[in-house]
Amino acid sequence: MNEDIRNANKDYEYILDCQNISKSFGGTHALKNVQLRVKKGQVHALLGENGAGKSTLMKIIIGLYKQDEGNVLFEGEPYNVSGPAEAIKAGISMIHQELNPEPHLSIAESIFLKREDTIKNTPFLNKKLTNQRAAEILDKFNIKLNPKMLMENLTLAQMQMIEILKAVSCNARLVIMDEPTSSLDSEETERLFQTIRELQAQGVTIIYISHRMEEIYQICDSYSVFRDGTFIGSGDLKDVTTGQLISMMVGREVKNVFPKVDCKIGDVVFKVEGLTGKGFRDISFEVHAGEILGLSGLVGSGRSETMRAIFGLDPITGGKMYLDGKEIKIKNPSEAIKNGIAMVNEDRKNFGLCLFRSIRENISLPNLPKKQKGLFINQKREKVECRQIADVLRTKMASIESEAYSLSGGNQQKVVLAKWLQGSPKLLILDEPTRGVDVGAKSEIHSLMSKFASEGMAIIMVSSELPEVMGMSDRILIYHEGTLNGEISRKDILSGKADQQYILAKEFGEK
Ligand SMILES: Nc1ncnc2c1ncn2[C@@H]1O[C@H](COP(=O)(O)OP(=O)(O)OP(=O)(O)O)[C@@H](O)[C@H]1O
Ligand SMILES: [Mg+2]
Repeated sequence: MNEDIRNANKDYEYILDCQNISKSFGGTHALKNVQLRVKKGQVHALLGENGAGKSTLMKIIIGLYKQDEGNVLFEGEPYNVSGPAEAIKAGISMIHQELNPEPHLSIAESIFLKREDTIKNTPFLNKKLTNQRAAEILDKFNIKLNPKMLMENLTLAQMQMIEILKAVSCNARLVIMDEPTSSLDSEETERLFQTIRELQAQGVTIIYISHRMEEIYQICDSYSVFRDGTFIGSGDLKDVTTGQLISMMVGREVKNVFPKVDCKIGDVVFKVEGLTGKGFRDISFEVHAGEILGLSGLVGSGRSETMRAIFGLDPITGGKMYLDGKEIKIKNPSEAIKNGIAMVNEDRKNFGLCLFRSIRENISLPNLPKKQKGLFINQKREKVECRQIADVLRTKMASIESEAYSLSGGNQQKVVLAKWLQGSPKLLILDEPTRGVDVGAKSEIHSLMSKFASEGMAIIMVSSELPEVMGMSDRILIYHEGTLNGEISRKDILSGKADQQYILAKEFGEK
């Protein structure tokens, strides 16, 4: 290439220019002739419903998939890599939507995985130096973890933070963030935003994927929208409203993101008194038939920990639980299910799905005893029922027999929900029920919650998205460092007496 063209390319307006990209998986056209143009130094939002093709394009960019058609230009020059390690060398790193931690590696080993050579040029890894460098990085981002700690001992949010550090610490000029905040709380999200602003100040470009619209407006400059594997449009965020973006994404109008229906609140279904366990102490509350009880708090404040203990995943060391007025003791999840308690967990990969089983099997699994007639399962009915519930949630899938791993992240979450909703439990515990779910489907899941509540189910919902907790709860309990630090009624929210600031202050411990 002659010098003139090279210089012209350097000044090229777009750091990344993906042209006419297509990609199919078997019969599924994940991407059809899409474009994505990102200006240097911007934070660019990539938007679209679950299954729109966002992650697929990102995986093509870092060389995990090869496109069937189309070209990618990076910094004005043809760009072609055969995998993430090569992408990093070329200047592009990625934070993945689905975390794949190597459980037996330490934090330090994990941060430098596949780029050990950046530490020292010897065939033998210098452990001490790796730990030292990792400690510096952790310190820089103000994360108080020992670099020698094993990945398997981290919480989901901590793993996510390590994943973020890994991507931003390798001096990439383009960082792809695929739903980086889906398991972070407001404090950690703010820390990530600070990091993004620092990177931007250094001239780094960012592609930001998220289903949380308020984040998009907070941190991004420009956007592109995909729908069903096609490119719909792009522009500057200052020129569009949330409503306009949503209709570009879903191709129809979503009237109400939080379709909470006020329904009759009945008798107490479930009650805990002085419940104590790892990460929480002396928790007392009741939840009534028809009620949606929201739990807010920072990650690690004890919300999920309490729910795990109620469902029998972790031991209870003190206190009592009552269902329909009778004391119950739950030692494991199958006892919880027998008592009519169901739980949708925040970590779908570890608790929710068998990735290599079909969607039908995943939905049916916990509901099999009901479907069984003598020794046989009515397979035809099973299939019809599974398809019905998957359709209600608008699960985008090739077939009900496809394996769960082939679904996009948000669609996997819908299958987890479908599996529990089918069992009609008395008490439904939802831990981050719409994590990674797009706006349209979120509204459908919220509608379903309202519907189940109106049929008399008691629902407890843990969510780190304040608009969701505030939009859907009849009552909100606020956790702070393992104990309850306040309760708010729907009336207080609707009247504006309790707003986001008020809840946040309580989450941070204000009396
Ligand atoms: N490895 C695969 N095998 C088969 N189909 C796949 C595979 N990866 C993705 N798909 C399909 O391609 C389509 C696009 O998926 P993709 O993961 O890119 O969506 P997404 O926009 O990232 O969605 P989400 O917001 O849910 O993460 C989906 O229909 C998905 O089922
Ligand atoms: Mg995705």
